[in-house]
Amino acid sequence: MEKPIIKKSLFYIFPGLLIFFYALAAFSGENEGTRNIKKAIVKLNKAQQVKAVIPVPKNIVRANVKYQGGVFFTETRKDKIKRFRCSSCHNNKKVSIQNAAAIAHADIKVVHGGKDKPLSCYTCHSQEDRDFLVAGKESKIDLDHVYDMCGQCHFRQKRDWIGGAHGKRVAYWAGERVVKNCTSCHNPHSPRFEKRWPKTYSVPQK
Ligand code: HEC
Ligand code: HEC
Ligand code: HEC
Ligand code: HEC
Repeated sequence: MEKPIIKKSLFYIFPGLLIFFYALAAFSGENEGTRNIKKAIVKLNKAQQVKAVIPVPKNIVRANVKYQGGVFFTETRKDKIKRFRCSSCHNNKKVSIQNAAAIAHADIKVVHGGKDKPLSCYTCHSQEDRDFLVAGKESKIDLDHVYDMCGQCHFRQKRDWIGGAHGKRVAYWAGERVVKNCTSCHNPHSPRFEKRWPKTYSVPQK
């Protein structure tokens, strides 16, 4: 009658001992190195924290697309556009002066899409609601999400922009990912950058 009881208790004792020895091994694993690291760790003191060198921009929106499965942000545009809201003028009231478009938007010259066939205003702007952009029929794109509009034609650059190979990240490499929007850099009406000389020219050393 006794024998099976011993067998049974052995069944529990053996794994128990195994766990005990593992734990022992783990604790004695705290060698000189790990102890020094633990000693060197300083508790966060908020009073001693310094201000960020590059502040995180305030006016940002969450992008409609995912970056490596995660979210990211881009600079807003509407707050930077002088003539926004467009609907403050484009409100279906009849304009009785001639050349009104030239007067109101004289500064806008479209140099985009080739000399012979530049893009028309309504390729990008909604004719029905000027506060929005378009990408084909039935679409309505918020000006802050301009990358969706540019990306219908420049899909390669959009893909690169999502991945970080085109454009520029602002603020930190760590923390929230915030990138410049297409029109933070490109003028949509004349997006090409002219070739330039560097501002400072380093004279070759003799
Ligand atoms: C200060 C008033 C004003 C504001 C603000 C304004 N527009 Fe206009 N816009 C006009 C007038 C006036 C015309 C000419 C009459 C018309 O087409 O309604 C015009 C014409 C246009 C045209 C047609 C141009 C053409 O050559 O046929 C487009 C496109 C346009 N506006 C887009 C915009 C967009 C986009 C915004 C906002 C970012 C905007 N406008 C803001 C006054 C304004
Ligand atoms: C390639 C697409 C595209 C075309 C073509 C285009 N626009 Fe625009 N336009 C934009 C975008 C995008 C913005 C917003 C720019 C920004 O984010 O700063 C804009 C901004 C504007 C603004 C506001 C500018 C300001 O700072 O006040 C006006 C006005 C305007 N467009 C009128 C026109 C007119 C008129 C035409 C045709 C003659 C035209 N656009 C053609 C894409 C386009
Ligand atoms: C409807 C299609 C269309 C849309 C929308 C569009 N583009 Fe373009 N874009 C073109 C075409 C066509 C060209 C001329 C291609 C060329 O010259 O190689 C061009 C040329 C350019 C160039 C110059 C390319 C070069 O090689 O020098 C830039 C930069 C550019 N676009 C940026 C933008 C940006 C930024 C937007 C959004 C604000 C935009 N485009 C929206 C069609 C489009
Ligand atoms: C940080 C600024 C910046 C941002 C943001 C940016 N671009 Fe550009 N882009 C440039 C510069 C600079 C060039 C010129 C590169 C050259 O000449 O080698 C360029 C070139 C281009 C060209 C010409 C072809 C090429 O690849 O060289 C296209 C098209 C273009 N950009 C579209 C876009 C679109 C669409 C977006 C938004 C999704 C965007 N860019 C965002 C700075 C920017």
